[in-house]
Amino acid sequence: MAKGSAGRDKAVSDQYEDFPYPPRNPEDERDRLITGSPSHLDEVNHYIFAGQRDFSKPFRALVAGGGTGDALIMLAQQLADRGEAGHVTYLDVSQASRSVAEARAASRGLTNIEFLTGSLLDLPNMGPEPFDYIDCCGVLHHLENPEEGLAALDAVLVDDGGMGLMLYATLGRTGVYHVQNALKILVGDEPQKNQVPLAKKFVAGLPKTNWLNRNPFVGDHKMGEDAAFFDLLLHPRDRSYLVPEVIDLLSSSRMSLVTFLEPVKYDPAVFLKDKDLIKRLKKLSDIDKATLAENITGSLKTHLFYAQKSSSSKTIAKIGPEMVPVLKDGNPAETLANAFKGKKKFAVTFDGEKIEFDLPERISEIIGLCDGQRSLRDMQKMLDLNWEGMRSAFAPIFKLLNGWNILWLKDGAKK
Ligand SMILES: C[S@@+](CC[C@H](N)C(=O)[O-])C[C@H]1O[C@@H](n2cnc3c(N)ncnc32)[C@H](O)[C@@H]1O
Repeated sequence: MAKGSAGRDKAVSDQYEDFPYPPRNPEDERDRLITGSPSHLDEVNHYIFAGQRDFSKPFRALVAGGGTGDALIMLAQQLADRGEAGHVTYLDVSQASRSVAEARAASRGLTNIEFLTGSLLDLPNMGPEPFDYIDCCGVLHHLENPEEGLAALDAVLVDDGGMGLMLYATLGRTGVYHVQNALKILVGDEPQKNQVPLAKKFVAGLPKTNWLNRNPFVGDHKMGEDAAFFDLLLHPRDRSYLVPEVIDLLSSSRMSLVTFLEPVKYDPAVFLKDKDLIKRLKKLSDIDKATLAENITGSLKTHLFYAQKSSSSKTIAKIGPEMVPVLKDGNPAETLANAFKGKKKFAVTFDGEKIEFDLPERISEIIGLCDGQRSLRDMQKMLDLNWEGMRSAFAPIFKLLNGWNILWLKDGAKK
């Protein structure tokens, strides 16, 4: 058996041949499209391309370590819905995962995808035309050297492009590594498939004091799926990150954070109650604020974030008269407008913690006008306001709902 990092590389590849992740049935594509963060096209446009990208023009995306295809299918479908110029490349070491992703794409009749089998570490040598956007979720933390992985991705990204990434977060995974370490000692010498039944018996017998049992945020091992159980508790190689470690990883490739998602989860002002403590936030950097929030809640299991080259000239989309507010799918304007109507406060639950937010004035009326087509200028006219009045009414609404990551901006002139 191969030893050291080569042995661990092989163990990771073997895992995803035996347990393609996440488990998906291609037949389900007939009934639903899985959407989410990162890589929703409107979200990418907002955070990476200042809301200015026209997706009817050539656009090249890469899904690195694409697994069974969730991000691939979402991106390819959303690009196909906007024209014929968008193209997605899928890359994974696992042939079994690729087969599931291919079947899902075929079931949707998607023809804008190129499938590749191989390691993302080899991307610079593959000599692809550079990509405008790269999705790499749940992959870098399984590499022997995540910095090397990020550098390989950075090498094939256009200068003003961006990445949507997901890395495990340390605090919300408390207990996972205790059980992983215990299982390595107890059943790690067994072939991977034989480890599962033994590990299930081990987990079932853990005492109440065990940190995994005491962690209410982790539940993938209870889903009844061997792939999810293995990925969480028997992974041959995984590590997790605290906020400053995410920033260090990005810096190693001269990349910068654009935003964590959802932004509100990284805002300590939301979780502090005392005015004197809240005042002290003013002098903190954004990274210190995010670090503080992570340590206050202790519930973050993953860090989802957008990043770009530190030299990029692109910014997050900004409020302006020609910008169109776009509500994330699943949040119909009418439903939100009704939910906010006549209320001064609104409670939302994040990771089991109920948080009350002050609702800005006119939120119900203004959100009711957001149909994904109307610009802020259109709304200004409908509300009989001047631009300054419209801007000051919309800014706090945008801050609140963008913080929940359900409201983005795009330039109305672009497709
Ligand atoms: C946890 S899964 C995540 C799949 C997908 N990105 C998602 O979020 O649904 C990790 C994937 O990374 C792939 N992978 C691991 N190491 C890789 C490498 N060096 N190059 C490309 N893919 C890799 C695995 O085969 C597996 O499909």
